[in-house]
Amino acid sequence: MFKLAPSILSADFARLGEEVKIVEEAGAHYIHIDVMDGHFVPNISIGLPVVKSLRKITDMTLDVHLMIAEPERYIEDFAEMGADIINVHVEACKDAKKIIERIKSLDKRAALTIKPSTPIESVYDYLGELDMVLIMSVEPGFGGQEFNPDALKKASKLSDFIEKNNLLTEIEMDGGIYLSNVNEVLESGVNVIVAGSAVFGSKNPSEAVKSFYSTFRNFKNN
Ligand code: DX5
Ligand code: ZN
Repeated sequence: MFKLAPSILSADFARLGEEVKIVEEAGAHYIHIDVMDGHFVPNISIGLPVVKSLRKITDMTLDVHLMIAEPERYIEDFAEMGADIINVHVEACKDAKKIIERIKSLDKRAALTIKPSTPIESVYDYLGELDMVLIMSVEPGFGGQEFNPDALKKASKLSDFIEKNNLLTEIEMDGGIYLSNVNEVLESGVNVIVAGSAVFGSKNPSEAVKSFYSTFRNFKNN
């Protein structure tokens, strides 16, 4: 089953609750929350209080993408605020295995994220414990960047590996995805699509979510 994870980075933060309810009512399964610290990435976004507030108003899966240095310092806090999926960058982890174990011990779903320059093989050792791998198709830090097609090769490789090893790990892709290129992303084996500009940056976020899901349905029927 394919899922859409609208990224709130492109939402209007002055009316965030309203925007999130709109995509929930339109059928989105996940809501993607980009946390940036101005250190691991050059930009600063939002953090714990926003996760806490969104937890109160939505039943969607809170998919928290931590673009922060030393993510091990904040796992408990994000779990406590109501995150469902905690994505940590493999490049930021001193001991990825330990962090994944910590996330799982808090009954949360664990995901490892890789930047465009990081090989997909860097997550293989952890796949048995991981619920999801997030492949960045842009340099993390900003919305509205151009899709890097190298991400598709990584997803195909990972998808083959997951299938051969009978694993259930989901593959998520983030950055530069629109209705115009989502089919090739699905073809590469990705099952969770992050979309910021294509949803909250569009004139009608509700219609945008519905159009993504109708593309997902047509893809399955082909
Ligand atoms: C970028 C973030 C993305 C961003 C995607 O660092 O991780 O989640 O919101 O935005 P679009 O869909 O506009 O590329
Ligand atoms: Zn993201």
